Amino acid sequence: MDIAILGYGVVGSGVAEVIRKNGRSIADRAGEQIRVRKILDIRDFPDSPDRELMTRDPGEIFGDPGIKIVVETIGGTGAAREFTIRALSAGKHVVTSNKELVAVHGPELLKLAADNGVSYLFEASVGGGIPIIRPLSQCLAANVINGITGILNGTTNYILTKMRRENCSFEEALKNAQQNGYAEADPTADVEGHDTCRKIAILSSIAFNEYVDCSRIHTEGISRITLADMLYAEAMDSVIKLIAVSRREGDRIFARVSPAVVSREHPLAGVEDVFNAIVVSGDAIGDAMFYGRGAGKLPTASAVVADVIDIVKHNERTKMVWQRRETDNMVPFGDSVTRCLVRAKARDRSEAAADIERLFGQVDHVRADIKGIDDELAFTTSRMTESSLAERIAALKQMKSVKEVVNVIRILEP
Ligand code: HSE
Repeated sequence: MDIAILGYGVVGSGVAEVIRKNGRSIADRAGEQIRVRKILDIRDFPDSPDRELMTRDPGEIFGDPGIKIVVETIGGTGAAREFTIRALSAGKHVVTSNKELVAVHGPELLKLAADNGVSYLFEASVGGGIPIIRPLSQCLAANVINGITGILNGTTNYILTKMRRENCSFEEALKNAQQNGYAEADPTADVEGHDTCRKIAILSSIAFNEYVDCSRIHTEGISRITLADMLYAEAMDSVIKLIAVSRREGDRIFARVSPAVVSREHPLAGVEDVFNAIVVSGDAIGDAMFYGRGAGKLPTASAVVADVIDIVKHNERTKMVWQRRETDNMVPFGDSVTRCLVRAKARDRSEAAADIERLFGQVDHVRADIKGIDDELAFTTSRMTESSLAERIAALKQMKSVKEVVNVIRILEP
């Protein structure tokens, strides 16, 4: 079977490398040899072992009936979307690692694939090399999935791990992540949580069998997390992680991406560096955790090639369809319930403590001996709705006894 690769970046070149290196075992598994016939990219790669396969002309791929599968590793929603539509409309299967495209245009692309009798597969879009899309859509299909909780971004998990282990600031850890090739030159999508948001939207759409729109998911990143926050978390026998959660609530879906205080007893607390982990809760299976390298050239490429092998073996068409509900399917963020760690700088500690109790009722104070911080009160709230929390935080900011609310970090419930 001949395939084409669109985009010879980190993942695209990794796909060509995996096929070149593991060609024989891939052929054994697929039942026939898989060959890369063309690679589309506007850049020149004179030193690449794949240079003979390069083209800048998409017509050489879409007009070639011998190319049955197209791997899209361009990323984004511009050219990637246009080429995916072209490929599916021409009756070619498409395999991608492009989470943004799947999260934003998944319903239309899956329908187009189904209408054309081909597959649109995206195992590599979430969790890099961790098998999660297929387990969720096939192996766990007998379960009613009640919830998903995960660490879905390798870059931010690396940064948070580095900050804690090496007592460095967010900025220093980010710089280190960039030097080591983990974070992009523009790390916004990772550090502000957008990448995690797209991934939890994809997982939720599969788990709950209807489209979950990533633009409706409340998303916060880690750029405001400091070492002091981590030390308070430590005093709670916890760590801070960027956590994605989604669950059914009645006939609606709740999803959120935010930094969270995670108890050391929780299985996600021990997930370090670039590793990702996803806990899926099903009614029959209970909790199942998927763990592994969530980013990187070869882990992600291996997930792309696994989808290619699946198509070659089964030659099936996509059956998964994500319906957009006509009415709103999301729990309004303000109605969702949370508990938080709140840090407030006090002008007068005892007055501030009284004001906190008046506003929040009884709270648990968190005591941490942090160098240079002696004017703060840190406390954990009881469970309350996000709107109620926002009102109380706004009122706390107005108190004369309080100089500043330093940070508000959610606590991951077990
Ligand atoms: N930037 C992503 C991460 C790559 O760090 O997890 C994998 O999707």
